[in-house]
Amino acid sequence: MGKFYVTTPIYYVNDKPHIGHAYTTVAADIIARFNRFLGRDVFFLTGTDEHGQKIQQAAEKKGMSPKEFVDSLVPVFKDLWKLLNISYDRFIRTTDPDHVKAVQHIFMKCYENGDIYLGEYEGWYCIPCETYYTEKDLLEGKLCPACGREVTKVKEESYFFRLSKYQEKLLKLYEENPDFIAPEFRRNEVVNFVKQGLKDLSISRTSFSWGIPVPINEKHVIYVWFDALTNYLTAVGYPDDEERLNRYWPADLHLVGKDILRFHAVYWPAFLMSAGLPVPKRVFAHGWWTVNGEKMSKSKRNVINPFEVAEKFGVDQFRFFMFREVSFGLDGDFSFEKLVQRINGELANDLGNLFNRTLSMLKKYRGSKLPAPKGEFDELDAKIKRKANATVEKVIELIPKGELSKALDEIWQFVSFVNFYIDRRAPWTLRKEGRDEELDTVLYNMVESLRFITALLYPYMPNSAEKMASLLKIKKPVNEWRIKEFSSWGGMEPEAELEKGGILFPRIEYDPETGNVREAKTKKG
Ligand code: ME8
Ligand code: MG
Repeated sequence: MGKFYVTTPIYYVNDKPHIGHAYTTVAADIIARFNRFLGRDVFFLTGTDEHGQKIQQAAEKKGMSPKEFVDSLVPVFKDLWKLLNISYDRFIRTTDPDHVKAVQHIFMKCYENGDIYLGEYEGWYCIPCETYYTEKDLLEGKLCPACGREVTKVKEESYFFRLSKYQEKLLKLYEENPDFIAPEFRRNEVVNFVKQGLKDLSISRTSFSWGIPVPINEKHVIYVWFDALTNYLTAVGYPDDEERLNRYWPADLHLVGKDILRFHAVYWPAFLMSAGLPVPKRVFAHGWWTVNGEKMSKSKRNVINPFEVAEKFGVDQFRFFMFREVSFGLDGDFSFEKLVQRINGELANDLGNLFNRTLSMLKKYRGSKLPAPKGEFDELDAKIKRKANATVEKVIELIPKGELSKALDEIWQFVSFVNFYIDRRAPWTLRKEGRDEELDTVLYNMVESLRFITALLYPYMPNSAEKMASLLKIKKPVNEWRIKEFSSWGGMEPEAELEKGGILFPRIEYDPETGNVREAKTKKG
């Protein structure tokens, strides 16, 4: 079924990761896992952005060399990805030797093609954002329009990339590939930005040294964004491994936050066109998390630590929450109260309780042995199959495009439908009235629906799906399930002995004063 190459941004290692970083990386993990389920040869890339002035300054503050400094932080990112169950195929670091080589190579390609020239840059620079600004871009008081912090005046010799030359080509790219930028409102923002005119871009610096040298002029280091974007090529073998490059490039999906869409949707395709390489198929920009309505910042002491959330509330609870609470693409607000509501209301009640009541009824009425279905007795017996299949279809369409919340919503509608099915088909009544064959069908349909739910939720909640599969006594590990063997209704083997119940998602109590979390004493789901 072909390949699927998905990437996250490579994060700056000037500080520890927070929920924003976790968000994008979990999103990419969901997409990677789902594409593996579809049988695709997936390559999932994440990593760290280690050069530039911001890192050099952060290292100086700690009295460390830049390399010592980044080496001390990279393990924190790796530990977080391990905790959050991130199934990446490579963790790239921009200090990796193959990357340094790739950056110098693409720089020379653009240079040889006449798109890089030496000049002088005079203007403003935001170090936290690693971005150039003209005076009229700045906010009052000479502040960065993106992050609101102070910018630095720069005047130095610099190599420039002829971005202006690519204005029309880029507009044509957006026009001919309406899917290139998503969501659509973001695409419009980018188109408007490009229509206003593009100036040539400074792509080297001389006033500090922590970066990849310009091959033809060792006084210069390459601009950190030119360096960083190239990571997507390095990881698939650029420039030497042509076979690998041809297999995986262009990337199917670059996932980014809205803050860095311009770099990915304007500069990056221009660099690629200049180097004679195909552009990525899609760039999806998601929204921004705030915390209790405010921007996260160290000075406000409201930075949410993803280690803490995952350890206290559960890894899958956290993964689920991020894509359920906020429509992927829009901005969202984090609060522990909302997290608790989702856990208790949707995971414990809707889903956990669905598993629990199904397995309890199976135990009570059939000694936990799954009966064979005996045909359809009611319109709803046909409808549940149609719904299950339709949900799979929709999810297959949505997830590879990056529409993670829409897909999760489809899955949740199915969970709700199965609960509705049980209420309406009322197995307890069938039992009382001695409608045994009908009861067999209904019990079978309930359990078979759980198998669908397990497969569809697996990318979002891999550990929980594993538990669900074990309750259903399916031996094959969920990460090895494939759509081919899965797609049709009727996969559960009759006569299987299932578990008798089990709490998938305990209800919790959260104390906002102390931040303590414990299992609720009553009403487990
Ligand atoms: O920009 N809400 O790295 P970075 C949602 N090194 N997502 C957030 C977020 C928030 N509040 N804060 C951060 C860089 N993110 C460059 C990237 S790529 C070639 C180079 C996520 O450490 C989001 O994905 O500043 C955003 O785009 C990214 O972290 C920025 O990470
Ligand atoms: Mg940033």
